[in-house]
Amino acid sequence: MNDALYQALISRHSTRRFDTHPLADGTLKRIQDLAATVEPLVPENRYAVMIRDVNTVEDLVQALGAYGRLLSPPHFMVPYILGETHPLEDLGYRTQQLVIQMMLLDLGACYIGSLGRETTLRARFILRREARIGAVLIFGHPAEDLGNRTADGVLRRMAGSTHRLSAAEIFYNKSFDHPGVPPEELVPLIEAARRSPSALNAQPWRFLWRKGELFLFTLRQNARYGKGVPQDYRFFDAGLCMASVRLALKSQGRQESWQLLTGEERDLPKYPQTLAPVAKIVLG
Ligand SMILES: Cc1cc2nc3c(=O)[nH]c(=O)nc-3n(C[C@H](O)[C@H](O)[C@H](O)COP(=O)(O)O)c2cc1C
Repeated sequence: MNDALYQALISRHSTRRFDTHPLADGTLKRIQDLAATVEPLVPENRYAVMIRDVNTVEDLVQALGAYGRLLSPPHFMVPYILGETHPLEDLGYRTQQLVIQMMLLDLGACYIGSLGRETTLRARFILRREARIGAVLIFGHPAEDLGNRTADGVLRRMAGSTHRLSAAEIFYNKSFDHPGVPPEELVPLIEAARRSPSALNAQPWRFLWRKGELFLFTLRQNARYGKGVPQDYRFFDAGLCMASVRLALKSQGRQESWQLLTGEERDLPKYPQTLAPVAKIVLG
């Protein structure tokens, strides 16, 4: 068991108030190196992160159209991916592994969604037209003193982050007619999944457990994301959630990993039209 890894998954939350001091160059280099070691969901896709200092927060907030208040992050990164196959899921999957690694270095981070603003960001960071950028990540040491930590809690409430769906609201056993609590062996996985971050805390993920296979679905429409392009956050958020489950398995020393689904598979369980299949893990 890797308890530190599992604890990081369970205790993670977005950090919005930071110690203003920049991180040591060695730490930034370490993060850049870690980005090259995360597991891919689709090995053919090319993933990279660009790390930058934040000059003024106002500039960053304006460029990204961020919601909520973000105070004094010393750095931000632009994770991006090139590739045709499930790019947003893969981008989320890889970036969330990096975020958890950063938590193990006692750092804090918060995603700032960028869907709908990708053209502006590509121009600003001189990226290819095909590059997908689901979110930028602000990061640094979380603010230490009590006043600052309290303020982080207030910002969290303002951003609508405090409400988590219960396991019974996202988990189904055998068929979608049976919402329920997960069996004991799945509890650590579903707990990690529940605590994943998502744009506007939409929590689009739903799980079905059938014959030793754990299926991940997402809601096709999520009112919280808003209309149009931001509906695609469900792909990115699915990737974040898949990373949480995969890391929870890894913390138990297990190898099982996600298989992406096309929706065309003949042995797919029946599911309501409001959901879309994403992936499954064979747990046996
Ligand atoms: C794709 C994405 C975009 C996000 N954009 C913002 C943002 O612009 N401003 C903000 O304060 N939080 C943002 N968040 C953080 C979410 O609000 C947060 O993950 C969610 O409310 C759950 O809270 P938690 O991360 O503290 O568990 C974003 C998260 C994701 C995954």
